[in-house]
Amino acid sequence: MSLFKKLPKNQKVIENHEKIENIANTLVRSFDSIMGTIGLGGRKGNYDDYNYQFFGGEKDGLRKKHYDKSLKLLWKAQEHAPWSSFDDCTNGEVELIQLAKSSFNEEEKKEYQRISNSDYKDFLKKTYSLDERKAIANILALIGHGEAYAWMVSTEILNEVKSTGGRAALTAQVLEEAKHFVVLREIVRAFDVEIPRLSAWEYVLLERGFKSKGLEKFFAMNVVVEGFALNLFGMLSHLPGLEILRLFHLDESRHTALPTNYFKEFPMSFWEKHSPIRRIRRFSLILPALPVFVQIESDLAEIGVDGMEFGGSMARKVANLADKVGFHFPMSKDQFASLINLIFNAYCKTTREGHEHRDFMKSETTKGKKELAVEKEVFRFKTA
Ligand SMILES: [Fe+2]
Ligand SMILES: [Fe+2]
Repeated sequence: MSLFKKLPKNQKVIENHEKIENIANTLVRSFDSIMGTIGLGGRKGNYDDYNYQFFGGEKDGLRKKHYDKSLKLLWKAQEHAPWSSFDDCTNGEVELIQLAKSSFNEEEKKEYQRISNSDYKDFLKKTYSLDERKAIANILALIGHGEAYAWMVSTEILNEVKSTGGRAALTAQVLEEAKHFVVLREIVRAFDVEIPRLSAWEYVLLERGFKSKGLEKFFAMNVVVEGFALNLFGMLSHLPGLEILRLFHLDESRHTALPTNYFKEFPMSFWEKHSPIRRIRRFSLILPALPVFVQIESDLAEIGVDGMEFGGSMARKVANLADKVGFHFPMSKDQFASLINLIFNAYCKTTREGHEHRDFMKSETTKGKKELAVEKEVFRFKTA
């Protein structure tokens, strides 16, 4: 027996509608197809409704490596930065945290006390001098503004990628960039110092990255900006009060691996990889990063990091990743390394007393064993 009391249907209406809809369907789709072919628009939705999937197929591999993994590793600000204004844990998670707290040993209790200190600002003030706080805030703001662009760019790439798996992967990234931006902003603000705007160099780099055509955005964002972020989080996550950056570091490692995994499914053409115009554009896109290292050199010096070592460490990772993905430069990886070394050493010769030539491309500013292991996984090369 049926669950429902059936109502009468008009078979004629059903048949007529079916005929009319079939004609309308042929018309609208043909019209869009012609418009698309002659480059005057056409269908915007990159969606294959006949097969209930996005164009490009399912690509479950991409979904599992990025979307599923992101959700598995999804972290909540309320748990890791209890001092913040975030209230993003479920009731079950709050209960679990309470339960875990009761089984903390002395060391864990102290650690938790520190990050849950309702006055996180006081903790930062006690731990760091004003100059150190200014320096760390300047360095963090640099990537804080980058997170805003990462959020905007990933939202756009979301509509450029093919396949259901590819879109799921990008959707997870958009969510994580949103979280990075809002959580990092609270951390930077807690340092209680003036937060700098984007410098001209960062402005040019990020704007040009955002304006990159199609999947070249993967180069600007997932390789350059996120490579920068990965290096930066890896350098700071061991500092007291900044342990949460380990979680940012893990997320960014997944984002930097995304182009490699995506292009395994949808390889770039030879022309896309090697076109001289693209090679030059990629190279010109990273040029504004060079003055950024000069810009943050004094802030890095304040926390005991050599700006050029940081630059070399980052340049090596970005160059390796770009090469691995197939985003080639106008010169080989080795020539690129020599050029960066030449520029950095020339700069140091004029600004540092008694400077002797060094191979900055071999430096490693990422601290923490876990972070180094994560980076090894992403870049699949020895991190010096
Ligand atoms: Fe991010
Ligand atoms: Fe990211």
